Amino acid sequence: MPTTTAPAIGLAIPALARALPRVEDEIRRMATSSSLPIVNEHSGRVTAAGGKRLRSVLILAGTLAVGGSVTDKAVTAAACVELLHAGSLVHDDLMDDAAERRGVPTVNASWGPGPAVLVGDFMLARASQVALTEISPFAAERLAAAVADLVEGQVLEVLDLFNPDRTPEAALRSIALKTGALFRTGCVLAAHCADADEATGARMAEYGARFGLLFQILDDLLDLASTRLRLGKPVGNDVRQGVYTFPLLRAMDPGLRALLVREPGDDEVAEVLARLRRGPMVEDTLAHCRELARQSVEALPVLPASETADILRELPMAYLNWATTLIA
Ligand code: IPE
Ligand code: IPE
Ligand code: MG
Ligand code: MG
Repeated sequence: MPTTTAPAIGLAIPALARALPRVEDEIRRMATSSSLPIVNEHSGRVTAAGGKRLRSVLILAGTLAVGGSVTDKAVTAAACVELLHAGSLVHDDLMDDAAERRGVPTVNASWGPGPAVLVGDFMLARASQVALTEISPFAAERLAAAVADLVEGQVLEVLDLFNPDRTPEAALRSIALKTGALFRTGCVLAAHCADADEATGARMAEYGARFGLLFQILDDLLDLASTRLRLGKPVGNDVRQGVYTFPLLRAMDPGLRALLVREPGDDEVAEVLARLRRGPMVEDTLAHCRELARQSVEALPVLPASETADILRELPMAYLNWATTLIA
């Protein structure tokens, strides 16, 4: 599994380096808090396998940058967002029939599709429950709303499967909900944990929403333009599953359209990817992402000078640059 620049940047700041292991402990506590050992086994495996923890870095850096400190509530907020995210991936892997995530077997592969619904539900519910009892009703409400957004984003995606007439705007609407909403919520919780004023919370929300869009567009691009070796997960899955994403839709033309068939074989998927890589898709998408990075930083509130404020400003472009190194 490749690592991102996010934890690397975070670890350069002592306050973040000290806080991230606390987030891990908190994730483990929540993910293994079922009275049923078998639920803990699966939820614990998915969360212990890591992931980039980009959302945690964002929340902790955000809390510090707007004038707060790394309190227990801020640590719990980061852990709740990671648990919710991991629960959504358990469901996503079930929908995608994926066998592996974060280098370990998915719940659907190791225990079955029905149990994957249940384990994912457990993780989503626990995240909001802990937010209610250990952070605030506001935090619990925001997390539950993010789950509802995520579901709607996924539903929009399902409605457009194998639809070559899906517009790039329709794809953006879906990813703003399925991914942007949780990034946005993380940044809102950062401001909340720091007791920041409403205007600061609103600007942080906008920063997170833009960053989330950028993040998902890059994930979509890598699925089309990276390799399994570099990415640590199979490529071409979106085309295989009929998820026509923003980078592909912007590159749509009659030649590409003719290649997009239902239930494509490996050779047909490879032909689609080869065609896209020969064209302007990569440069076009990266240019769009650079603009989103600029917009996200522009949305930030005025922040007192600090290392964590610098992190918030650097993270969108640093993430983009890291993702670019994974393009074949
Ligand atoms: C994967 O998110 C799902 C998307 C929103 C693209 P991440 O790429 O952050 O997954 P982990 O947490 O690092 O495994
Ligand atoms: C994940 O998006 C969507 C969620 C927010 C649940 P993807 O389907 O693109 O994520 P990967 O590529 O499987 O990690
Ligand atoms: Mg998926
Ligand atoms: Mg993806």
